Amino acid sequence: NAAMGGCPVSPQAAAFDPFSPAYLANPAEALKWSREQEPVFYNPELGYWVVSLYDDVKAVFRDNITFSPSIALERVVPPSEAALATLKRYNYAMNRTLVNEDEPAHMERRRALMDHFLPANLAQKEPMIRRLTREKVDAFIDNGRVDLVEAMLWEIPLTVALHFLGVPKEDMDRLKEFSVAHTVNTWGKPSPEQQLHVAESVGRFWQYAGQVLDKMRQEPDGQGWMHQAIRKNAEIPDVVTDSYLHSMMMAIIVAGHETTALASTNALKLLLSNRLVWERICNDPALIPNAVEECLRLEGSVVAWRRQATRDTEIAGIAIPKDAKLLIVSASANHDPRHFENSDFLDIYRDSAAEHLTFGYGSHQCMGKNFARLEMRIFIEELCRRLPHMRLVEGQQFTYLPNLAFRGPQKLEVEWDPANNPERTDP
Ligand code: HEM
Repeated sequence: NAAMGGCPVSPQAAAFDPFSPAYLANPAEALKWSREQEPVFYNPELGYWVVSLYDDVKAVFRDNITFSPSIALERVVPPSEAALATLKRYNYAMNRTLVNEDEPAHMERRRALMDHFLPANLAQKEPMIRRLTREKVDAFIDNGRVDLVEAMLWEIPLTVALHFLGVPKEDMDRLKEFSVAHTVNTWGKPSPEQQLHVAESVGRFWQYAGQVLDKMRQEPDGQGWMHQAIRKNAEIPDVVTDSYLHSMMMAIIVAGHETTALASTNALKLLLSNRLVWERICNDPALIPNAVEECLRLEGSVVAWRRQATRDTEIAGIAIPKDAKLLIVSASANHDPRHFENSDFLDIYRDSAAEHLTFGYGSHQCMGKNFARLEMRIFIEELCRRLPHMRLVEGQQFTYLPNLAFRGPQKLEVEWDPANNPERTDP
């Protein structure tokens, strides 16, 4: 094998399948063999080098010059002719956003668009997030059973993201279809028929993003991150370009809400599966922020990210040729026992929990990380306070959308006895 410089591909490396049910159910466990035996390996079918240890994943994230992020949003499966023709009908032209932009353009844009993410601006959002959460909980607290994803964990992050961006809150249901299509289009392995269907939705998403931009341009004093980007586009059109605005509009709607919704679902599933931990944080909410961090470490909503080598190099002594594509599996890195003691164990007191790589690392590290943390903390605080007695419905099957990057159960059914709601006895 040329890409391996003559080395044979081990049977396990050849058999690696990130779309297999076992991997989708638990990517960290599915790569345990790699962490132990072959931490950097090439998978011919995917055409990617897989990196599974903490230090190596972090080193790749850190060096965005040797390991370019340019392929971060590239389709894993090349599109069919028919899918391309469909996208063309919508003038689909998704191009660079921040996350897949090389230097020096990236840093210049990142700096120009940082203000809204500063702590003081995030703190202002807290009352709104809490109000939205309380309203949703009010609506189901007497029911005794609910799917938390449908009842709140999907919609609140979307509402908050649209508010942050300054995007009108219309068409929320269409955005669900669009986000799923974008994820499958980018990180999935759609069949030829699915490709056509997905291309149709992605094309409509692109068109929608353009229409929203046009509408927002009519309000020169509008509030929100995308309004700021629109003004920067007028001020410094070479830095914040038209193509960038349109691409970013589409990408950020997904980045801002889907990741947070899935991370919140993963966190609640994990906490409720560890009853003693759940009871402990309900009794002492001061433990919630570090519990959020530990959930992001053990069950993050982004499990892997991509980089491409810009020159011949090596990772942990393995030669990596120029142009090699890398799948850096943060979910595996976060379970690396060389970095985290008792790495598979949920320890909400762990000092190093925040060292996880779920938000990436280095100059592209997630700009919305504190936003996501804030939302997750509020969801858990409100549910702990008002439904400390809720439990996961037993025997439910958790299903995951097959894709390389975003992970979280599509439903999370919980139940409780409304007669025991704390606010009935202690209003
Ligand atoms: C970048 C994960 C929530 C906005 C990223 C990256 C990851 C990530 C892995 C790439 C990092 C790298 O290349 O080093 C997550 C997760 C989230 C989350 C797991 C929720 C739990 C958000 C939210 C927003 C956001 C809520 C916005 C409101 C961004 C932006 C970038 C980014 C703008 C690009 C930064 C750059 O390239 O300079 N995120 N994200 N993310 N994220 Fe997030």
